[in-house]
Amino acid sequence: MKLPELKIGDLTAKVPIIQGGMGIGISLNRLAGTVAAQGGIGILSTAQIGYQEEKFERASVRTNLQTIKKQLDKARSFAKGGILGFNVMVASFRYDDVVRATVEAGADVIISGAGLPMNLPELVGNAKTKIAPIVSSVKAAKIILRNWAKKYNRTADFVVIEGPKAGGHLGFKASEIDQAIIGMDDEIVKIIAHVKEYEEKFNTTIPVIFAGGVWDRSDIEHYLDLGCSGVQMATRFIGTQECDAPDDFKDRFLKATEDDIHLTTSPVGLPGRAIDNKFTETITAGVDAYKAQPAPKTPIIPIAKCLNCLQHKLCDRKTIPYCISEALLNSVEHNTDMGLIFSGSNGYRINEITTVKAIFDELTA
Ligand SMILES: Cc1cc2nc3c(=O)[nH]c(=O)nc-3n(C[C@H](O)[C@H](O)[C@H](O)COP(=O)(O)O)c2cc1C
Repeated sequence: MKLPELKIGDLTAKVPIIQGGMGIGISLNRLAGTVAAQGGIGILSTAQIGYQEEKFERASVRTNLQTIKKQLDKARSFAKGGILGFNVMVASFRYDDVVRATVEAGADVIISGAGLPMNLPELVGNAKTKIAPIVSSVKAAKIILRNWAKKYNRTADFVVIEGPKAGGHLGFKASEIDQAIIGMDDEIVKIIAHVKEYEEKFNTTIPVIFAGGVWDRSDIEHYLDLGCSGVQMATRFIGTQECDAPDDFKDRFLKATEDDIHLTTSPVGLPGRAIDNKFTETITAGVDAYKAQPAPKTPIIPIAKCLNCLQHKLCDRKTIPYCISEALLNSVEHNTDMGLIFSGSNGYRINEITTVKAIFDELTA
């Protein structure tokens, strides 16, 4: 069977694979542009997208906003006309401005999760940029699609379902994960049926994409058989030369075994999946100590400087366990011991650093 094309409105990806956005600094222009050139959809993460810029230390927010277009233009220069977009987390500081900057930069698509992107249609307006919410349950899909239809008389251009095997922040409580893994296929079918109602209502097609633990061709075929129009894959692309992360970050994946990947606590209030290291040990020990002897909460790892990554109402500097930006930046700034190294449950399967082309050749063969 040849993999079908993925059509999102007037956009057509030759290969139905979206490369998932990975912040901070894991999916930038090099990875996203190469994926787009191979016929997939390349996604840059907006999370602290300007961290390599000289002005970042002084003015992180402004620098991030200015770097969005610079990174997209760079990706376009070698994407061979392929489809490119951004992942913007709803929890981001100045979410509205970040979304507007991606639209002004000329993003083909915006994928938005880590919260419910209730006002995304309003921010995109009449621009040609296609929009997708990330949902982990039919409940979340219902809330978003009902709200968009009622408030904006429009629907999603596509929907990304993120399951419990994904990397980064998860849309499930830690205690729900095992059950969610068992029930995910049923949930996908329910979400697809629900999306169909909106396809009929708006006389359109809304492709549904599955993310989380997709690794090989048989995984892709499984989700296509369930009724999905494509998949989103992130962790597998970390094991490529083009992944924007430095080599010592990729090395952690080469060395990791299945037993080295666990859920960890995050200031975002959602569990995140990451590779064990000194950082996760410190956080786990700190959380256990609080449980054993509740004390007035202070960060487990003292916070040097606020880099304005999360909306301030979501991040209380006095009670969060650590600064998420600092932890993610450590992992791409050669301090991988004290860095938060997000990974999907398949991270241990990266055994070599290959190329995006080799992965696409294998998956499309
Ligand atoms: C290192 C890493 C960073 C990630 N960062 C983000 C992010 O900034 N925003 C987001 O919505 N998802 C993020 N994700 C989730 C991915 O976009 C993707 O949906 C998910 O990891 C898919 O599962 P897979 O990694 O098993 O393929 C991240 C995942 C990883 C592994």
